Amino acid sequence: MTPSKAWSAPRWTTVVVVLLATLCCLFVPALGVKHENFKKCDQSGFCKRNRQFADKAAATTSWTSPYALDPTSLSFSDGILSAVVLKTVKDGQEKVRLPLKVTFLESGVARVTLDEEKRQKGDIVLRHDSKARKERYNEAGAWALVGGLETSKGAALSDKVEEGFTKVFYGKGGKHQAIIRHAPFEIDFQRDGETHVKFNQRGLLNIEHWRQKVEKPQEEKKEGEEAKEEEKKEEAQGEDESTWWEESFGGNTDSKPRGPEAVALDITFPGYEHVFGIPEHATRLSLKTTRGGDGNYKEPYRLYNADVFEYELDSPMTLYGAIPFMQAHRKGSTVGVFWLNAAETWIDVVKPKSIPNPLSLGVLRHTDTQTHWISESGLLDVFVFLGPTPQDLTRQYGELTGFTAMPQSFAIAYHQCRWNYVTDEDVKDVDRRFDKFKIPYDVIWLDIEYTQEKKYFTWDPLTFVNPTKMHKQLDKSERKLVAIIDPHIKNTDNYPVIDELKKKDLAVKNKEGNLYEGWCWPGSSMWIDCFNPAAINWWKGLFKYDSFKGTAPNTFIWNDMNEPSVFNGPETTMPKDNLHFGNWEHRDVHNLYGLTFHNATYQALLERKKGTIRRPFALTRAFYAGSQRIGAMWTGDNLAEWSHLEASIPMILNQGISGFPFAGADVGGFFGNPSKELLTRWYQAGIYYPFFRGHAHIDTRRREPYLAGAPYTEIITQALRLRYQLLPAWYTAFHEAATTGAPIVRPNFYVHPDDEKGFAVDDQLYIGSYGLLAKPVTKEGQSSVDVYLADDQPYYDYFDYTVYQGHGHHNIPAPLEKIPLLMQGGHIIPRRDRPRRSSGLMKYDPFTLVVVLDKDGNAQGTLYLDDGETFEYEQGAYIHRRFSFDGKRNSLSSSNLVDRVTVKGENYLKTMAKVRVEKVIIVGAPKSWRNKKEVVVMEEGKKESARKKTVEMEWFEGGKGRADWAVVRDPKVGVGRGWRIDFD
Ligand SMILES: *[C@@H]1O[C@H](CO)[C@@H](O)[C@H](O)[C@H]1NC(C)=O
Repeated sequence: MTPSKAWSAPRWTTVVVVLLATLCCLFVPALGVKHENFKKCDQSGFCKRNRQFADKAAATTSWTSPYALDPTSLSFSDGILSAVVLKTVKDGQEKVRLPLKVTFLESGVARVTLDEEKRQKGDIVLRHDSKARKERYNEAGAWALVGGLETSKGAALSDKVEEGFTKVFYGKGGKHQAIIRHAPFEIDFQRDGETHVKFNQRGLLNIEHWRQKVEKPQEEKKEGEEAKEEEKKEEAQGEDESTWWEESFGGNTDSKPRGPEAVALDITFPGYEHVFGIPEHATRLSLKTTRGGDGNYKEPYRLYNADVFEYELDSPMTLYGAIPFMQAHRKGSTVGVFWLNAAETWIDVVKPKSIPNPLSLGVLRHTDTQTHWISESGLLDVFVFLGPTPQDLTRQYGELTGFTAMPQSFAIAYHQCRWNYVTDEDVKDVDRRFDKFKIPYDVIWLDIEYTQEKKYFTWDPLTFVNPTKMHKQLDKSERKLVAIIDPHIKNTDNYPVIDELKKKDLAVKNKEGNLYEGWCWPGSSMWIDCFNPAAINWWKGLFKYDSFKGTAPNTFIWNDMNEPSVFNGPETTMPKDNLHFGNWEHRDVHNLYGLTFHNATYQALLERKKGTIRRPFALTRAFYAGSQRIGAMWTGDNLAEWSHLEASIPMILNQGISGFPFAGADVGGFFGNPSKELLTRWYQAGIYYPFFRGHAHIDTRRREPYLAGAPYTEIITQALRLRYQLLPAWYTAFHEAATTGAPIVRPNFYVHPDDEKGFAVDDQLYIGSYGLLAKPVTKEGQSSVDVYLADDQPYYDYFDYTVYQGHGHHNIPAPLEKIPLLMQGGHIIPRRDRPRRSSGLMKYDPFTLVVVLDKDGNAQGTLYLDDGETFEYEQGAYIHRRFSFDGKRNSLSSSNLVDRVTVKGENYLKTMAKVRVEKVIIVGAPKSWRNKKEVVVMEEGKKESARKKTVEMEWFEGGKGRADWAVVRDPKVGVGRGWRIDFD
C-alpha cells in the first residue's frame, strides 16, 4: 500500500486521537482471556519437567531410554501379555519395577497399561498429614469405559523368535502385530506388516516413580521465596526438583503429599501428516504443532477442565472438557490412541519432515506426526486403534466409552435460552410471542436467577410465583423447560440441601479431610462428590416431583460450572490436594468430576417418575470420554463475534469424531451483542449444530428471533423451519450415532477418507449419512461461499436444484436470505414439510422423500423413527426403513431394516399406521419422464384389490444449470410399510 495524504494529518490531531484512544480504553473493560489465570507448561511442574526431559533427549546424541522390559518376567495368556518394565534410576543403583500389561481386545484394539509396583510398607513415606491414597489412581476406566473389553481369543505370540523382541499377532485374521522391543522398551503397532503407531521411539517414556521425601535442612520460607527457588533451579545440574513436593501458582499452594508422579510417553504416527481430536480446544480440526515456528503454537494442548472466561480462539489452551482421544489420518488409513487418564494432561505435537534422500528420485516427502503425552498422576493406560477407516475408529472408541445416548426428539429441535428469563410471566410471554410470529421452538431455558438466592431446587417466590402453571402452558404445545442445577451448593442457613450434604458427608473434602468450602455463584459453597455412590443416591432424591416442587415431567436439567468452577480456587477450579471419596486426590480425578456430576443428574432424571421412564435430557459444560452416554454438551461462554461463529464449526466437527457428537455452540454468542446480520448468520449455521440453542449473557440486549425485525426475523424463521423440516434426517443421524458411534455432523475427511486435498477442510459439514453438505456463512458481508466438493458426483442446491459437479471448489451464491446447502447425488432424504410450533406437534405428520439421483441414476437412504420419548425402542418399538431408488428398473422401494418385529414393535407400528408418505420428489429426474403423467404404486399387506394403484406424477424442466425434477403427489403409502413405486 502507498501512504495516502490522509495519513499526514497535522500533529495535534494525532495527539487528540491518542488521547481519545487512551480515554476510551480506561473505561472499556478489556475483552479477552486472562492468561495470567491459567498455567503455561513451564508453570506446571510436571509439564515443565517432561518437556525438559524431551529437550534433553533430543539434544543428547544416542539418547537411551532408561526403561527395559525384563524378559524373565514375560508371560502371555488369554490375550494378555504381562511383564515387568524396569526403570533404571540413580545411575543404575536402583531399579523401579513397573508392571506392564498389554491386553489384546477382540475388537482389534490393544491396551497398554504401565503401573508402579507397591513397595514394602514404609518404603514410601507420605507426608504425615496426608489423607490421600497412595496407589496410583487406577479407576478412570471404571467411569469412562462401558464395554469393548473382551480379550482376543486369536491373539498369539509369534513363533519367529528374535532376540530382544516379543511379537504378538492380533486383530481380525491376525493382521495386526505388536512388536515389543525389550531394551530400550518400545512398542511398534503394525497393520498388514506396516508400522502405524510407535511407543517410546523418541525415548520420552517417563514414569516419575514414588520416592521418599528427603527433608533438606531449609531456611524458613519467606516472602519472595519463589524467586529464590527459581535461581536454585537454574543452578541445579540434574533433574528439576523444585516442584516435586509443593508448587504455587497465582497465590495458591498445592501441597503434593505424594511428590512427583507424572506419566509421559511419546507416540509417533509414521507417515501421517494430520492428527485430529483431543477436544476441547478452540482450534482447527487438523491440529497444529506446538513447539513454535511459523504460525504454530508454542504451548502443548492442555486438557484440564476449566471455566475459561472469554476464551481466545486459535489456541491450545484448555477449555471446559477433555477427551484424550487422538486420531491420525492419511490416504487409506486412520489410526489412533486413547490416553485414559483423568489428571491434568498436556500433549505436544510436532511434525518433522524427513529430509528427502537426493539419491532416491521421486520419493514423496514423508511426514511423521510425533506426539508427547504428559499427565500429572495415575496410570499410563493407552488404547491403540489401527483402523483402517475413520468409521472403525469411532465405532471402536464408542464400544469402549459408550455411544451417544438416544435423545428425546424434542432435544434435537430448537432451544431458546437466556441468562435470564426473569419471571414465570416472562417465560410465558416469550412462549406466546414465538407462536404469534409462527417461529418454531421446543424448549425454553432458565439460568441461575430462577432460584431463591442461588439455592438450587428452589424457585424465587417473588419472580417465579407459579412454576406449575408455567409448565402447563408450555406443555400445551408439547414444549419443555430446562432449569439449571450446578454442583456447588450454597453454604447457608435454612437450606435443607446443604444441611443434608454436610450431615450425610457427601461433599468434596479439603486436604485436611474437612469439608471443602469455596466461592461460586451463591457465595460460600460446597461441592457434591459424585464419586461417592451415596451422593448419587441422595442427588436422585432431590429431583423427585415432591422434593423439587414446581417441576413437572416436561422439566429437564442443565449442569453448568461442573469443571468444577470455583471462583477463588487455583485456575478457577478446586485445589488439587482436595480429597474425594476413597481418599483420592482431586489431582487424580479432576477431568472426571464433570462427568460424574452430569451422570448423577441423568440418573436422577431417570428415576423421578414411576411407570414409563422417559429419556433424560441433561446438558453439560464439563465432560470427559464417556459423557456422550449421558447428554449433550455446548462449547461454553463464546463471544458474539464473527470469529467465534467461524470457530464453532471445527470445534463441533471435532466433538463428532471424538465420540461426543451431541454438541453445539451458543447461537448469537454468549458475551456481547451480535449485529442483526451476525445473529441471522449464526442461526443459519446453528441449524447444523447437533445441539441447537440460542443463549445470551445477562448484560446483553434481548435477542429472541422475533425481535430482530424485517427482514431478519423472517430469515431466521426460515432457518428454523429448515431444521424442523429435516428433523427426520437428524433423528436418524442421532440413531446412527447411538448405534455405530458415527458423528452426527461429519468433516470432509470422514466422508471422503481418500481425498487428500480435503483432509484439513473444517468449515463445511455433512449431516449424517444423507449427503447433505452445508457450508455456513461465517464472515460479515459475505454473499457467496466456496464449497469444496470431494468427488465427481452431482451436488444439487437444496432449494433450487442448481447442479454443481467436479472435484474442487465451487462458488455458491449466499445472500443473507440464502443458506448454502447442497445435496450429494445418491441419497434419499426424509423430511416433514408442515410447519408447526414444536417438534412434538409433528409426531404424526406425513413425510416427504427427496430422492437425489447420483450420476448413475441411483439413490439410497434410511429413516429411523420411534416414539421420541421412552425407552421402548430398546424393545423393538421403532420403524427403521431403507429407501432405495434403482435407476435400471426406475423404481423406488421401501424395505424393512428391523430384524424381528416384537410386540412392542407391533404396537408402535399401529400408532403410526396412518402416517404416510405424502410426497416424493425426484431430483435429477430423467428427461424420458417428460411426458409421464402417472406412476404405479404397490403396497404390501393391503387387500389384493387395493394393493396396486396409479398415482399422478409431474415432471419439471430445471433449465439454467438446474436439474430436472419430478413430483409424485400423495402416493398414500404408509411410512412403516413395504411398498414400491414404479416409474416405468
Ligand atoms: C452413573 O451412576 C450410576 C448409578 O448410580 C453408577 O452406577 C455409575 O457408575 C455412574 N457412572 C458414572 C460415569 O458416573
